Amino acid sequence: MIAITRDVSDAIVRCELTHLARQPIDLVRARAQHRAYEARLASLGCEVRRLADAPDLADAVFVEDTAVVVAEVAVLARPGAASRRPELASMAEALTPLRPVVRVEAPGTLEGGDVLRVGRTLFVGRSGRTNDAGFAQLRAAVAPYGYDARQVPVTGCLHLKSAITWVGERRLVVNCAWIDAGAFEGFDLVDVDPAEPFAANALLVRGTAIHGAQFPRTRARLEARGVRVEPVDLSELAKAEGGVTCCSVIVDA
Ligand code: GLY
Repeated sequence: MIAITRDVSDAIVRCELTHLARQPIDLVRARAQHRAYEARLASLGCEVRRLADAPDLADAVFVEDTAVVVAEVAVLARPGAASRRPELASMAEALTPLRPVVRVEAPGTLEGGDVLRVGRTLFVGRSGRTNDAGFAQLRAAVAPYGYDARQVPVTGCLHLKSAITWVGERRLVVNCAWIDAGAFEGFDLVDVDPAEPFAANALLVRGTAIHGAQFPRTRARLEARGVRVEPVDLSELAKAEGGVTCCSVIVDA
């Protein structure tokens, strides 16, 4: 497995914010936490490939939003936040040796944080960042390989994966306040603890769910359901509206 990442930008203090008020971000601490996250990915068997630093691109650490990669193809996204589009070129360069690359074109917008893959189904958030045209282009790009794509309205949070993520087998961790859980009928849904609304973002790597250390109550719920959880502290990046999935693009090598 390859984990594509990028260091925290000097400009992160100017990051996009949609649902959070701006708070000071400690850049030194953010970078240390991000290094520890990369180390955790490496310890789970990922080869970490860092993209070139992008000191002027405030949200460039959140590489997930720039691409959706499945076994057969990589779809280069087109972020709904225009400030994030200059992040695409370096991601395209990194993916080109790994997969055929298809691009989302205007008027489509798509951010990888809105795309939750479970097996051969892609659930795609209809959010402030991903529109109907972006969804249609993603669906067309993966349909030839047997993937089904379904739209899920998102309200009250940034991306679909702020509200729901896969934690193995048929199990998802979810904040039902931000999506209609009816779209996930047939799955075992683990609700976040009400005191931890941002705890529905987990990154499953080789059977282990990387999960924010600031969410111990939801972690206990996951562990009670048999999910193996490794907590990581990305609390500085959480102030920039980022979670554990946001900081990598995982590519099966
Ligand atoms: N700050 C993350 C984003 O809004 O894209």
